[in-house]
Formats: sequence, C-alpha cells, structure tokens
Amino acid sequence: MDAKLVWEARYSVGLDQIDEQHQEFFRILNVMGALADTRDIKRADVLPLLQSLSDYAFYHFASEEEYLERYRYPGIAFHRRQHDIFRDRIALFLEEVESSAADLPSLFRRIVTYAREWLVNHILVEDKKCEAYFKKGNELPLGLRDAPKGE
Ligand SMILES: [Fe+2]
Repeated sequence: MDAKLVWEARYSVGLDQIDEQHQEFFRILNVMGALADTRDIKRADVLPLLQSLSDYAFYHFASEEEYLERYRYPGIAFHRRQHDIFRDRIALFLEEVESSAADLPSLFRRIVTYAREWLVNHILVEDKKCEAYFKKGNELPLGLRDAPKGE
C-alpha cells in the first residue's frame, strides 16, 4: 500500500469537531492499510474493520450534515449525495467481502485504496467548500435551529 495517511493543516475545514473526526477516519484507514500489507489476510479480520469504517462513516457524515444545515450551506443536497455514494460503495464492498470467493487480499487493497482516495479528495474539494460558510458566521441562532424550514 501507499504510505500512511498523515494529517496536515491543509485538510482543516475550520471546525475542530470535524477535523478530529477526519483524523479518526485517517486512523481507521491506516489500520486497514497495515492489515492490507500483511500476507495472511483473513475474512474474519477484514469484516470487523470494514464494518467499523462503515459505522464511522455514518456517524461522521451525520455530524457533518448537521453542521451544513446549521450553517445553511447552499450546496447541502449535492454534498449529501457525495456522502451517499461513499456509504453505498462501502456497503457493496462489505457484501463482496462477505459473499465472494474473490481474491481477498486484492479486493481488500482495492477497498482501502478507494476509501483513502475518496476521503482525501472529498475533504480537499467538497468539505473545503464549506469552510467559508463556517467562517462567515452563517450559523443559525440557537433558537431557530429547530424551526420549520422553507418559510
Ligand atoms: Fe463531507
């Protein structure tokens, strides 16, 4: 596999909570990368890791989407679709690992490569687009956050 993912300042989107979650995402992907580099890869080792990546993705995307709503980010629908693409792709990979007789080491390397590339690209392109909104102080006042939308 390529070198480990290392957090850099240029990945920051200006919100500590999201930056910390992205770092945790990197950590999970690095654990997966280390397993992908070992010779003897077993389904029993791959499945829980992939499941934890999937769980973490759901948790993290939900927090991010909550911020996007709170900051009235205009591109929220498109951004959410990008998250859906990743969630769906990982679900398909999980099925593939569970069911297929495919070459597990190469399948697993493909999964780790996809997840890494997707995440780094998503942070640098889509998440970075939100940074300006977080910085501009677009946050809804507390009392209005749960108000009905669209009026
Ligand atoms: Fe995102």
